[in-house]
Amino acid sequence: MRSQAMLWSALLLPLFLFLGQSSSQEFQGRMTCGRCDERLFCNCSSLNYQRIPRVTVVKVLTLDLSLNDITLVAEDDLREYRWLQTLDLHSNKIKNIQETSFILLEGLQSLDLSSNQLDSLSPVWFSKLLFLQNLNLLGNSYRTLGPEGKLPVFRFLNRLRTLRFGNPELEAVRRGDLAGVTQLNELEVYGNNLKRYEPESLGDLWPLGVVILHLRGPFQDDLDLVSSILHDVSNPKTFLVIADVLLTEEHSVRPLAETKERRVRSMLFRNSTLTDDAIVGFLKAMDGAPIEFVGTVDTLFQGTGSWFSARKTRHDNLDTVYLRNIQVVDAYRFTSFLNLWFLLKLLRQVSLINCKVFVMPCLTAHLLGSNLEYLDLSSNLLTDLTLKESLCHGSGVLRNLRVLNVSDNALKSLQLVSQLVVRMHKLVHLDVSQNAYSVMPRVCSWPLSLTHLNISWAKLRMVTSCLPWSLEVLDLGHNDLTFFHNVAFPALRELHLFGNKLMRLPPGSLFPNLEILLIQSNSLNMFGPGDLRHYKRLSELQAGQNSFVCSCEFVSFMVNMLGGPAEGSVELTDRPENYLCDSPLHLQDQRVDRVYLSVLECHRVLLVSTLCGFTLFLGILVVIVLWKLHVMWYVKMMWAWLKAKQKSRMRQNADGEADPLICYDAFVSYSERDVEWVEEFLVPEMENSQPPLSLCLHKRDFLPGHWIVDNIINSMERSRRTLFVLSEHFVHSEWCRYELDFSHFRLFDGNADAAILVLLEPISKDNVPKRFCKLRKLMSSRTYLEWPQDEEKRSDFWTKLRLAVRGEDEH
Ligand SMILES: *[C@@H]1O[C@H](CO)[C@@H](O)[C@H](O)[C@H]1NC(C)=O
Ligand SMILES: *[C@@H]1O[C@H](CO)[C@@H](O)[C@H](O)[C@H]1NC(C)=O
Ligand SMILES: *[C@@H]1O[C@H](CO)[C@@H](O)[C@H](O)[C@H]1NC(C)=O
Ligand SMILES: *[C@@H]1O[C@H](CO)[C@@H](O)[C@H](O)[C@H]1NC(C)=O
Repeated sequence: MRSQAMLWSALLLPLFLFLGQSSSQEFQGRMTCGRCDERLFCNCSSLNYQRIPRVTVVKVLTLDLSLNDITLVAEDDLREYRWLQTLDLHSNKIKNIQETSFILLEGLQSLDLSSNQLDSLSPVWFSKLLFLQNLNLLGNSYRTLGPEGKLPVFRFLNRLRTLRFGNPELEAVRRGDLAGVTQLNELEVYGNNLKRYEPESLGDLWPLGVVILHLRGPFQDDLDLVSSILHDVSNPKTFLVIADVLLTEEHSVRPLAETKERRVRSMLFRNSTLTDDAIVGFLKAMDGAPIEFVGTVDTLFQGTGSWFSARKTRHDNLDTVYLRNIQVVDAYRFTSFLNLWFLLKLLRQVSLINCKVFVMPCLTAHLLGSNLEYLDLSSNLLTDLTLKESLCHGSGVLRNLRVLNVSDNALKSLQLVSQLVVRMHKLVHLDVSQNAYSVMPRVCSWPLSLTHLNISWAKLRMVTSCLPWSLEVLDLGHNDLTFFHNVAFPALRELHLFGNKLMRLPPGSLFPNLEILLIQSNSLNMFGPGDLRHYKRLSELQAGQNSFVCSCEFVSFMVNMLGGPAEGSVELTDRPENYLCDSPLHLQDQRVDRVYLSVLECHRVLLVSTLCGFTLFLGILVVIVLWKLHVMWYVKMMWAWLKAKQKSRMRQNADGEADPLICYDAFVSYSERDVEWVEEFLVPEMENSQPPLSLCLHKRDFLPGHWIVDNIINSMERSRRTLFVLSEHFVHSEWCRYELDFSHFRLFDGNADAAILVLLEPISKDNVPKRFCKLRKLMSSRTYLEWPQDEEKRSDFWTKLRLAVRGEDEH
């Protein structure tokens, strides 16, 4: 027994192991990534993959495998990805790419292999990537671009538009390394430790649109090498970015003279350290150069701004200065820009972004004077007070300013900023977003030229007529607005209201020219064709991320809208997955265009009202039918009968009698109007006969003090027969009807011959109302005695009647 069990477990165990392995991890350690969306984009980033995984969809277009632990790209790893357009493998640990790994990716347009551990590059990898446009090879450990004397690495990449290569290990760039690349627009070279550069290695590429050169080492050790590179890449059309450099001496900027020769117009320093000497050196080196744009980004400035020694240099073409993220080491020693008048007076566009500027003295504004058209002081430390100084108390010094950006400062008064700009008669665009505005005053004064106003990311709660009528683009996004229905903007084309608390669309009649409305992330419950109709010219709407109530009208409307531009040609330009139902509860978080609402839910009112109507109709019909058939009357009768029966039974039980005592021969049912006949003829004839017949007459024999119905029933039960004296009066008498009816019930009780009909006057059966169907039936089923008008025949009548009452036959 035991050995058998062991055998089984020995057989089964490997099977379980195998199953367990194959469900979590594919054969050969390849996992499956399921994070793909309907745009055929698989985001398999940051999932610790060690090999390229499979994905759950076919024909993937974009595959993001960045930030994993992949070390190897093997030959077959990408076999199922032949439709790929973008492959991102940055920040892995790839050491090895087998030669034919990319061979099937013929449609690939972007390949990112940056930040890996490749120590050599092979031309064979790229030999089939004929459509590759973007290639990033930064941040690896190769020392050259392919082995010397072999096929150039990029030989086949004729369509390459963007190429980034180099790393801290890169030692040499040789002539012919970039052979084959002919249509390049953007080139980034990381050569911070570059030792060798063969002249003209990059020379065949120009004219390049953007060149980014990381040349920290060469700028320190080998200025000739730098000159040589700058000579090759510079061109009037080139935007030149020099990164990671440390420029401290006046002579260290000497190679930049090369760009003057090549007539470069735009130059930006990035992630660099600069000193006063370097800047003076730069100004001298560029003396008389055609340079128009100078900028620095992410710069450490070690200096005091004393550049006066360069005052004789000429920079007549200088137009734009762009400074962002500058850290000034000795900020408190920094002199003002006042001695830079020779530069300031030239400038048309100045950006000082995130430079810890807390004030720009009014004098500086005077120097910038009338040339300045564009001033960006965003992300600084300006307050209402210092802004007042910076704009010279609103005296209109910067009279040609067209764009003013003071976004992301510490401004609080909207009224003040309006007063400060009101004399800038050419101001078109004012960006005061990301400030601390919390109230909008009733009235403000703005220049008439103002068409673009950005007050987003503040804390405004309502909109007033402070805002100028002239606006064409208004951004009030990310405020606390709860309603917007009181101010009209006749010229407005674009309105941004995302991230507020609006419950409904603002009335379209306020914006007769509005073309674009962005109102995502508010509290809209729904909107519909009725709301959109008033927007006469609206073509683009974004309204996702609201708490929609998915009613039937709304859902069907949205299905139409999201299906494409329909009626009114308003197009929803944000993505359908932003439109989710918030209520009803069972539809929460489902996409509005995907929910299913049943007919019951959709036409509830109609359904209920139809049902109600139908029920009402049926009820009325039933009542009519009942009335026509006198059912009520019958029911009433039946009820009275049952009650009376019950009462009499109870009485019987109380009296202890088993059977009702028969004490009359006949109960006479007659109409009050026929009393004469009964008393004059019937009673004498019957009661005086031999032997006498006893009659029960209600007038004479009913027990006083009892309910009449009880009396009737009692009397009938205690009589052997019921004699109906039929006449027109009888037919119309209510009590007679009862009596007739009770006798009918007695018929059911088994007394088949209990009823005797006497026809006092000739009434045809058809004259009897239909409801007396019983009487009619009796009349037609039973022979009745007719009261003869002829006196001679009366004795015959009496004889027959007596016989009938006694229950004997004539013979
Ligand atoms: C991909 O996923 C990563 C990690 O989950 C995320 O940080 C990243 O934003 C995603 N990328 C895109 C484009 O959605
Ligand atoms: C900036 O330059 C320094 C010095 O070369 C370098 O270490 C650093 O990585 C650079 N930073 C960025 C963001 O490129
Ligand atoms: C103003 O500056 C902010 C922050 O730097 C920026 O987002 C915005 O685009 C700028 N506005 C204009 C009109 O340039
Ligand atoms: C308004 O400013 C915000 C923040 O500075 C910016 O993101 C937004 O794009 C601007 N709006 C317009 C319409 O330019």
